[in-house]
Amino acid sequence: MDKIGFFKRCEEVRGRIENFKEPLIVNHYDADGLAAGALVAKALEIRGMNYNILTLRKLDFKEKMKNAEEIIFVDFGGVEESLGDALKGKQVVIIDHHQGVDGKFPQANPHLFGFDGGSELSSSGTAYMVFRNDELVDLAVVGAVGDMQFPLKSLNRDILREGIGKGIVRCDIDLSIFGRISRPLVWFLSYCTEPFLPGLTGNEKNCYRFLKEAGIELKQDGMWRKYYELELEERVRLVSALAAYLYSKGVGNASRELVGEVYMLAKQKEGSELSDAKEYSTLLNACGRHNKPEVGIRVCLGREGALEEARAMLNEHRKQLREGIVYAISNYEDFGKFYFLDGRKHIEDGVIGVIVGMLYGGTLAGDKPIVGIALDDEGKIKISARATKDLVVHGVNLGEALSKACQGIGVGGGHNIAAGATIEKDKLDEFLLNFSREL
Ligand code: C5P
Repeated sequence: MDKIGFFKRCEEVRGRIENFKEPLIVNHYDADGLAAGALVAKALEIRGMNYNILTLRKLDFKEKMKNAEEIIFVDFGGVEESLGDALKGKQVVIIDHHQGVDGKFPQANPHLFGFDGGSELSSSGTAYMVFRNDELVDLAVVGAVGDMQFPLKSLNRDILREGIGKGIVRCDIDLSIFGRISRPLVWFLSYCTEPFLPGLTGNEKNCYRFLKEAGIELKQDGMWRKYYELELEERVRLVSALAAYLYSKGVGNASRELVGEVYMLAKQKEGSELSDAKEYSTLLNACGRHNKPEVGIRVCLGREGALEEARAMLNEHRKQLREGIVYAISNYEDFGKFYFLDGRKHIEDGVIGVIVGMLYGGTLAGDKPIVGIALDDEGKIKISARATKDLVVHGVNLGEALSKACQGIGVGGGHNIAAGATIEKDKLDEFLLNFSREL
């Protein structure tokens, strides 16, 4: 791993950007892509520079790019392969963390220096390393968490330490179930899929009874209480009761997943979703995956009214995830080397990746990868593949497998643990055979 080489490259990319007049930022639409795009935008604002921003689901050449002389691609792998000659005559820099190769455009990418962009640094973290400014550190943490890179390690951990040192980020060891800030306790438990809580997940009545028996008051002044509002002693009681419950159900191992690092953003208002990096990133995901990426960017830039709009997107996101996971649980198939979910006509392409990932939270053993498909707005097949850390340790590399499996029928790539692709609608059988062979 060549940290010095990577930092030098980051500096070189920053120098190029600082010479731009009015660049177009082209960023990916997921949580990390939005946080990274916003981080670049904020860095330019700090420098008093003008910019335009374009968020895309997949990398196609768009009118806005035609008119831009300077482009900063953020969180897109394979820029040169996808756009090639269309970028001729333009000044281009790339900020990314996907597997790929160094091309002719200056590219800040930890992968090119021996780091794993899937677990050691996000695109937001890479953008932070390019600009390295205290005001940007929170977005670097949000992007990493949004890309499921927790617990933060390696270069991500360096950023976390910087954030903690400046008093901007806090790293607590606490119950790490999703919704500590936003979900009333009963739903905090009943929506919990990581870990799966047998008898509690999906059962509000049992959650209500369980919390009562643990001696937790569910309301205060007529309002449902949330986890972050509990006193320390109540938190300890709840965690202990949950662990004992899991042991009594014969799934004691799952209790190890209950507690872990949670990353808090100390400068955000207490009780706001934006104070918890995980909830912040979920909010961004909701905006990006439901066609309102600009709202996510505005949230990151602290623009007035954006948070309220993002909350509305989150409701839609949750609804689609709930319906999608119900469909997925009863329709996934075992294809031998991998699990397969055909989500066409049932699940939107924007959430298929999230949903197949959620299947590992209780439904599927992590013994093989999972591949989900949905239709995109052009009628092509969008593929999302997910693996577990264990599978990656044993050699699975989904980014590589998808990239090779799609040769001649589409385009694919990504990380070893999470990857995606788009193929022509009549090429599914060919893809499945190729992918099985690559695995
Ligand atoms: O789209 P999905 O969320 O399944 O993508 C998983 C990962 O694979 C993301 O990091 C995405 O940027 C990457 N990807 C890629 N090339 C593609 C499609 C997805 O690098 N053609």
